[in-house]
Amino acid sequence: MTPNEIKSEFIKLYGGSEEDIRIFYSPGRVNLIGEHTDYNGGFVFPAALTMGTMIALRVNGESKLRMKATDLPDLVEMDIDNLDNYRDLWWGNYQAGVCVELLKEGYDIVGCDMLYDDTLPHGGGLSSSAAIEVATALAFATLSNEKNGITEPVDMIKMAFIGQAAEHNYCNVNCGIMDQFASAMGKRDHAIFLDCKKMDYQLVPLKMDGCKLVITNTNKKHSLASSKYNERRSECDTGYAILKEALPEITCLGDVTVEMFEGVKHLIKDEIILNRITHVINEDDRVLRSIKSLTDGDIELFGKLMTESHVSLRDLYEVTGDELDTLAAEAWKIPGVLGSRMTGAGFGGSTVSIVKEEAVDEFKEKVGKNYTEKIGYAPTFYVCDIGDGGREIK
Ligand code: GLA
Repeated sequence: MTPNEIKSEFIKLYGGSEEDIRIFYSPGRVNLIGEHTDYNGGFVFPAALTMGTMIALRVNGESKLRMKATDLPDLVEMDIDNLDNYRDLWWGNYQAGVCVELLKEGYDIVGCDMLYDDTLPHGGGLSSSAAIEVATALAFATLSNEKNGITEPVDMIKMAFIGQAAEHNYCNVNCGIMDQFASAMGKRDHAIFLDCKKMDYQLVPLKMDGCKLVITNTNKKHSLASSKYNERRSECDTGYAILKEALPEITCLGDVTVEMFEGVKHLIKDEIILNRITHVINEDDRVLRSIKSLTDGDIELFGKLMTESHVSLRDLYEVTGDELDTLAAEAWKIPGVLGSRMTGAGFGGSTVSIVKEEAVDEFKEKVGKNYTEKIGYAPTFYVCDIGDGGREIK
């Protein structure tokens, strides 16, 4: 929806007039490379999309939050004094979790009527939850600052951490910082090279050189994703503890270079743990080589590194599955494809491919047809634009 469309839907739902409605927005992300590295203090390279979450809201003068999504039937009402009680909500739990975290950080939660509109596919691996969290955090932090006479702009990196804390403490997903950071800090036509240990970042212009970034959603519903995700995290912790004995100076897997790893990897006896750690350490190295390839204008090499990343996530980290593997393998067959890989946590969700402009139609047609034949239902394609991060729309 456009801001004007969401305003008129808002008025149908809550009445009143347009003047006192505010609009906040935050995008989803596509991660170009650097998967399952963020929570290991490694490198990631995501970019913000032009699809995301838009919130229309109006202060209601009550100690209640009322919220609804444009594509869901029910209106959810929350009591600001009891925000801990909404953990089991199927929709609205992210928002409640964000409010709880904002309260811990000293913000006030101002009572509001709200309408949410999402343009991201749910469960598509494009961080629809981070978009909701960051948009919600920004909206409430803005209102709190205004109430308390604070005139500085909202600290968007802080909003990213608030969103992550909501996932950890309210929704039981032990996620890294990548998704919320990209949603908060994205910049049009740029990707973000983020060092998740130091939290240093650099915006890298995406010169696509006659190519398009195409996202393909498997449309697979993934229900086990969060438990598998937490399992991978603890496997990494196990491997890290072994390496730390031999390399006491390290504070996370992100500190271990490929060369250092060669000298100590024999210490990891469990094959599964060894595979997981091998992925993380080489993936970090691939991110560094990707940044260099893009700065050198070598998009072909960047594509190859993306494909290598998928193979590693498939064989070593084991987070792909038939649907993502089929999409990637079908993409690799097309001559105009420079690289293709899963993006996000895996276990369903989407792939991202670099496709020569003139091959985009063939890509959609062939990948779509072959995937549907093998998997039994169709994927969805998005030729993606890279957009800006979270903001108020005035
Ligand atoms: C999910 C998490 C991120 C990151 C990716 C995998 O998207 O939210 O923090 O760990 O998976 O790279």
